[in-house]
Amino acid sequence: MQEMREGFMRLLRFRHACKLFDETRPVARADLDYVLEAGRLAPSSLGLEPWRFLVIEDHTLRRHLRPACWNQSQITSASAVVVILALTAELRSETGYARRMLRRLVATDGELDEAMQIYHGITHGDLNAWSVAQCHIAAAEMMLAAAAIGIDSCPMGGFEPEAVAEVLAIDRSRFEVALLLALGYRNQPQPPKHRLALDQIVEYR
Ligand SMILES: Cc1cc2nc3c(=O)[nH]c(=O)nc-3n(C[C@H](O)[C@H](O)[C@H](O)COP(=O)(O)O)c2cc1C
Repeated sequence: MQEMREGFMRLLRFRHACKLFDETRPVARADLDYVLEAGRLAPSSLGLEPWRFLVIEDHTLRRHLRPACWNQSQITSASAVVVILALTAELRSETGYARRMLRRLVATDGELDEAMQIYHGITHGDLNAWSVAQCHIAAAEMMLAAAAIGIDSCPMGGFEPEAVAEVLAIDRSRFEVALLLALGYRNQPQPPKHRLALDQIVEYR
């Protein structure tokens, strides 16, 4: 048990927002799939999995993408960039998506109606923000999975959604660009971590 505790903590410390990747070291497709599988298994509110993962390996495409991402060099030095798309329009109840997804989790029509009521209660506010929040959880799981197999990552919120959508031909009436996740191998030493102490952020009651 002690070994597991320490192993997981090492993994959390290994993960950092990598600023520069080794352009000569590609991430194998099987390893990318391992990382994506962690995203697939991530928890989501009511199990709606309101995400889609667009993996950009092509270097030319990433060169076009970079200006839309505040010209951040991770976009081109990484081996691949996972564009995490949040489902938006499809989540509206009239599309039937939520009903179909919830159907998997319940046994009866009555339970399904109850689940749909909960769904309306949860999402009647900002559907886009709700969906994007789920995507961030998937991103966190993917970063940890990457770290577990020695792959570095950088979560990237620094981009212009309209410009990213244009470069990648993403239909913004259906998807919100939630987050970009650059993946590759580090090309420089990891900087020290800066974090508040536990007693600054935690209160037990
Ligand atoms: C939602 C989100 C968006 C981020 N966007 C960027 C980004 O656009 N570019 C970047 O270099 N780092 C980005 N980061 C990384 C953070 O700056 C970094 O995680 C934080 O400074 C802590 O450092 P560490 O991850 O190396 O421990 C982002 C992190 C998160 C969670």
